[in-house]
Amino acid sequence: MKIVVIGGTGLIGSKLVADLEGRGHTAVPASPDTGVDTLTGEGVAEAVAGADVVVDVSNSPSFEDAAVMEFFETSTRTLLAAEAAAGVGHHVALSIVGTERIPDSGYMRAKVAQEKLIEGSSVPYSIVHATQFFEFARRIADDATVDGTVRVPPVLIQPMAADDVAAGVCEVALAAPLDGTVEIGGPEPLRFEDFVRLRLRAAGDEREVVSDPDALYFGAHLDERSLVPGDGARLAETRFEDWLAGPAGAG
Ligand SMILES: NC(=O)c1ccc[n+]([C@@H]2O[C@H](COP(=O)([O-])OP(=O)(O)OC[C@H]3O[C@@H](n4cnc5c(N)ncnc54)[C@H](OP(=O)(O)O)[C@@H]3O)[C@@H](O)[C@H]2O)c1
Repeated sequence: MKIVVIGGTGLIGSKLVADLEGRGHTAVPASPDTGVDTLTGEGVAEAVAGADVVVDVSNSPSFEDAAVMEFFETSTRTLLAAEAAAGVGHHVALSIVGTERIPDSGYMRAKVAQEKLIEGSSVPYSIVHATQFFEFARRIADDATVDGTVRVPPVLIQPMAADDVAAGVCEVALAAPLDGTVEIGGPEPLRFEDFVRLRLRAAGDEREVVSDPDALYFGAHLDERSLVPGDGARLAETRFEDWLAGPAGAG
């Protein structure tokens, strides 16, 4: 199959392109770097022409509320219109476990808007809800740092390795469209503060990490299980402790 990967130069996208090629398919990375811009529309029609599947693992360069909404709404509309015109048979998008449970986050609202556009389009689709990537822990810590202390909510998180996210999206992209959503997650729930503290310590970062009932996650209040996938989720095997002990953990 020919599979176009929008955001194919990013963290998940580059791993996904390698996975798809490894399974014998033609995977074409598309991003501004390769002359395809889903915000302006530049190169989009040409990129999706002849594709069997289009996978969208792009991300907004800015997480500011209005910018991220503009990114996911405009880019998704542009892509879906081009795919419908080209007769693409499957649109796959990567989103986040719990998007619908965290409406006070502008980022999550933008992901919900993206999902609604996909669900309302004529293109057969699959939406993959993934939990937070292990690789995302330091960005979470930086956003949650107040006067040198990292303050995170007292809740559970069930993170997963980016390699496993890419593998999960690859499976979905090679299967028939679900016209629905599937959840993927890490093998075990962790306390949020343990996840962040262990990641920082492995990288030699000694910032204090505390659990704080008033702490927000990118501006949003979280409940104990807001970030935890449901019973039907496909759980990956890589444990956080093992990942930290490997080459990626020290980086
Ligand atoms: N972080 C998490 O824990 C988490 C959890 C679950 C789901 N997700 C979702 O995973 C997805 C991928 O995240 P990631 O961390 O792999 O992203 P990333 O590494 O930041 O990569 C973003 C990709 O989007 C491309 N892009 C940016 N602007 C574009 C545009 N105008 N047109 C086309 N492509 C554009 C970038 O291309 P250039 O390199 O050329 O700029 C890059 O290839 C996101 O949708 C995110 O919501 C994230």
